[in-house]
Amino acid sequence: MKIKSIYVENFRGYKQRFFEFKDKMNLIVGNNASGKTSLLEALYFCMCGKSFKSRDIDAINFDSFYFKLEMLAEVGDTEYNVFCYVDKALDKRIMINDKKIKKLSELISTFKFVFFEPDATELIKHQPKLRRRFLDMEVTKLYPYMTKVYSEYHRALLSRNAFLKSYDKKDIIDVYDMQISQLGFLIFQKRQEVINKLSIEAQKIFSLVFENKSMLELKYMPSIIASNDKEYYKEIKKNIDKDLSFGYTTKGVHRDDFEILIDKKPAINFASEGQIKLAAISVVLATSLLYPEPVLILDDVFSELDSFKRKNLVKFISQYQSFVTSAEDLSVLEREGILEFGSANLIFLERSM
Ligand SMILES: Nc1ncnc2c1ncn2[C@@H]1O[C@H](COP(=O)(O)OP(=O)(O)OP(=O)(O)O)[C@@H](O)[C@H]1O
Ligand SMILES: [Mg+2]
Repeated sequence: MKIKSIYVENFRGYKQRFFEFKDKMNLIVGNNASGKTSLLEALYFCMCGKSFKSRDIDAINFDSFYFKLEMLAEVGDTEYNVFCYVDKALDKRIMINDKKIKKLSELISTFKFVFFEPDATELIKHQPKLRRRFLDMEVTKLYPYMTKVYSEYHRALLSRNAFLKSYDKKDIIDVYDMQISQLGFLIFQKRQEVINKLSIEAQKIFSLVFENKSMLELKYMPSIIASNDKEYYKEIKKNIDKDLSFGYTTKGVHRDDFEILIDKKPAINFASEGQIKLAAISVVLATSLLYPEPVLILDDVFSELDSFKRKNLVKFISQYQSFVTSAEDLSVLEREGILEFGSANLIFLERSM
């Protein structure tokens, strides 16, 4: 896919701005608080229907009642016009080619992009919840119908937990046990598949782009291992007494995690800060290799990398259309031979938006 342009109105610090993009690297440069991340957030909103940062209404300009975004993109031979409107009365409208969408998954199934944010190292350092969210996002990007499976799973889980707290009616719970096992097993399988693919691609990036001799691996850590939904069901059943005493479902895909290993050891416990950053970039960029023609949206990815790694990273990024921010003086990047200004589209942001 390619993003052609975006019109931004009353979004964060922006009043009214129109940006046109090139099919190659779009380098967004500006001082701190000049609106670099906000511009990426606007693109993200048009492709996901929500912000990665906060609630929708927080993105409305302080002096306005609404924000409006209009993005033009191409996927294959098809042109898409995405229109987003959000106001403080909680009206939210998203249209693709003048047709109101019913579900946000319509956006996710249409636009394939990779998003790197500066605190992506949190993916390694933080709670399992963040890793599950990352993994499930990739699963739904590859298999859009899984969005429904996830929401049905969570509905069944909530109902089961409610019964665990209030009743000891194992026969009623059984309806939910069956649902959880069928849906859970499907999620387990898809996650395993995505983890296996990402593990291979992340290792390639880690060694080729960053010339790292260490071995990077992703390992799925499911709370239940099963080879079919019947086995999954048996495992869920085994836990019933424990679940009743705790008052919630102690095992299932909602409790799964994955580990990032460097040379077979958990990165979180043994890797240096630099290694963690390179591992996080590698894992996030690995998602780009899951789809044809992804767009890369990379916030502040160059900072803290030495010039050698930056050069290789630019080479990797240049295969795709990308939106890359930097607060750094460009002449330094040029002197380091990182960027050839001829091929990149430079977007300079002034403080006043
Ligand atoms: N709803 C809003 N209305 C108006 N301004 C806002 C709103 N939300 C955030 N801002 C402001 O927008 C500015 C731009 O923030 P942004 O994160 O895009 O900057 P940046 O260029 O990425 O900076 P950095 O280099 O520090 O990452 C900030 O000064 C922030 O306070
Ligand atoms: Mg920023």
